[in-house]
Amino acid sequence: EKIYIGVDLGGTAIKVGICNEEGQLLHTYEGPTEVDKGPETIVDNIERYVRLVVEQSPFNWEQVAGVGAGVAGFTNVREGIIIFAPNVGLRDFHIRQILEERLDKPVKIDNDANVAALGEAWGGAGKGIENCVCYTLGTGVGGGIIIDGKIYQGFSGLAGELGHMSVVPDLEAIQCGCGKIGCLETVSSATGIIRMAKDAVARGDRTELALVEDITAKDVFDAAKVGDEVALRIVNRAAFYLGKSLAAVAVVLNPEVFIIGGGVSKAGDILFNEVRSVFEKLTPEPVQAGLRIEPATLGNDAGMVGAAGLFLRS
Ligand code: BGC
Ligand code: NA
Ligand code: ZN
Repeated sequence: EKIYIGVDLGGTAIKVGICNEEGQLLHTYEGPTEVDKGPETIVDNIERYVRLVVEQSPFNWEQVAGVGAGVAGFTNVREGIIIFAPNVGLRDFHIRQILEERLDKPVKIDNDANVAALGEAWGGAGKGIENCVCYTLGTGVGGGIIIDGKIYQGFSGLAGELGHMSVVPDLEAIQCGCGKIGCLETVSSATGIIRMAKDAVARGDRTELALVEDITAKDVFDAAKVGDEVALRIVNRAAFYLGKSLAAVAVVLNPEVFIIGGGVSKAGDILFNEVRSVFEKLTPEPVQAGLRIEPATLGNDAGMVGAAGLFLRS
């Protein structure tokens, strides 16, 4: 029996999973990325975790038919290069070649959110759906476009970088990790939500968040849920720009479903209700007809499943 390894390379953790040919996740291992220790350590860690997950499973190394990796950053899929991954601290990094040499297996790479979208389309919220668009709201905001069941790559593999859609008007815009201003990521990521909360506290706005030691996005959602108006304003701002981005994408691609995943999406109704209401306000009725906005269902597994899917589904 052949197995495929899916690697989800993020800024804090590397998740590796073994999938069978049906895309079922059979075994996983997770360890720290250790971004601060530099590229060499990151590659060492990937190799170590990949070997470990196989050792700890009933499978053997010979059964590994391929290793797929989703990387949190701009990727050149054809060349197997990470162009720029701000949260992982890698630039112009020939990751595919390096991993192929280390593991002596075929390696495929893609952007983390593209891969998560593929995972969701394969076995999650988009199951059986040929045209969907996925957003992942975490440290950054990622995007993945699935057209006719496949990841849409665009001219140079950068299609679906939805976190860098510039949506915030110039006067209110701040600079993004990509170097440009007004990106969706600056307001709808966990990082953006935390920044807005800290700014509000620093300004002296009346909010219970002022009492929180080290504010997380979850703290902001929790405060909003119990009626903290400052927190609610921040949540609505994150939701507004996400809804605005969905409306823009909807008229371009006419997807059947928008799948929203990543840690921030765990906020649930308080986020989704507002996103849906903004979307409904901004999108022409015919484009809205039949279109759904749904939470991702594979959660943290989407990246691993989709990365293995680079072999099985493309
Ligand atoms: C990066 C994307 C990535 C997303 C989620 C963004 O900052 O530009 O490539 O998909 O974060 O990790
Ligand atoms: Na993407
Ligand atoms: Zn940006």
